[in-house]
Amino acid sequence: MSDMHGKPQLALVENSASAEAAAQASAVQIRNFSAYYGKNCIISDVSLDLPEKGVTCLLGPSGTGKSTLLRWINRINEETENASFSGNINVLGLDVLEGYPDVTELRRRTGMVFQQPCVFPCSIYDNMLMGLRNRKLSKSEARAIIEQSLKSAAIWDEIAHRLEDPATSLSLGQQQRLCIARALVLKPSILLLDEPTASIDPVSSRAIEDLVISLGEDIAVVMVTHNIAQTKRISDHVIFLCDGKIVEQGTRKHMFSMRSCEKTRTYITEEFCDC
Ligand SMILES: Nc1ncnc2c1ncn2[C@@H]1O[C@H](COP(=O)(O)OP(=O)(O)OP(=O)(O)O)[C@@H](O)[C@H]1O
Ligand SMILES: [Mg+2]
Repeated sequence: MSDMHGKPQLALVENSASAEAAAQASAVQIRNFSAYYGKNCIISDVSLDLPEKGVTCLLGPSGTGKSTLLRWINRINEETENASFSGNINVLGLDVLEGYPDVTELRRRTGMVFQQPCVFPCSIYDNMLMGLRNRKLSKSEARAIIEQSLKSAAIWDEIAHRLEDPATSLSLGQQQRLCIARALVLKPSILLLDEPTASIDPVSSRAIEDLVISLGEDIAVVMVTHNIAQTKRISDHVIFLCDGKIVEQGTRKHMFSMRSCEKTRTYITEEFCDC
């Protein structure tokens, strides 16, 4: 399906919608990528391009490897004991799996919000400050960036009066929005969001969707979601993953049209998916 020089799989450009996506500059290029836990192959020979701007929604049944794929893009998965890979992932022009010089810089440029909110055992404010720790900012500059990021993540109004409280005292949905805000302070070029609205109420969820759409005007946002209506509202591109393989990818218009493949249409209409 792909050659040894990293050219895209034919499957990715076989319809005009995918060709359109492939023609854009890529923030992430994945070639012949497979991921394993122990001996189990979770992702099998996946090749894809993520455009440098816009919102890409990653869809697929539970256990199909969506989180695993995101976790390899910023190399978090190399910290998982039994995880291994083969193939290439190129982020912003650099091969991140083989000899990327600075993993901290990779993670600064490639922000990630995990499926389970991950807050540090310190105050809400200090959680935000951690993201800025290597930057030489005055206290007032840091505070302004933190306030703006918390506003963007639709949580400022709820927590402005309790910034010194422990972050662990926040509800799960609030913790998730804090994690989004913390990722934003670093001004990433790529933002990986793993089901960021799964534990958030509908109003906050819509605020996050608005944020994702506006971020997508400037950077690459990749968002895993099980919410088909949400995908329709926010995506520019959609990738449908099943059993560790790409079933289909393309523009939102293509994926939500009668021109998409039968498996995609079945999944998108929320019927049983037997990939
Ligand atoms: N550390 C691990 N060791 C062994 N197996 C794992 C590990 N982490 C994940 N898996 C398995 O890998 C498969 C893919 O998991 P992953 O979390 O990527 O799926 P997912 O598509 O994100 O699912 P969901 O939609 O439920 O979040 C699952 O079968 C999962 O049980
Ligand atoms: Mg997952």
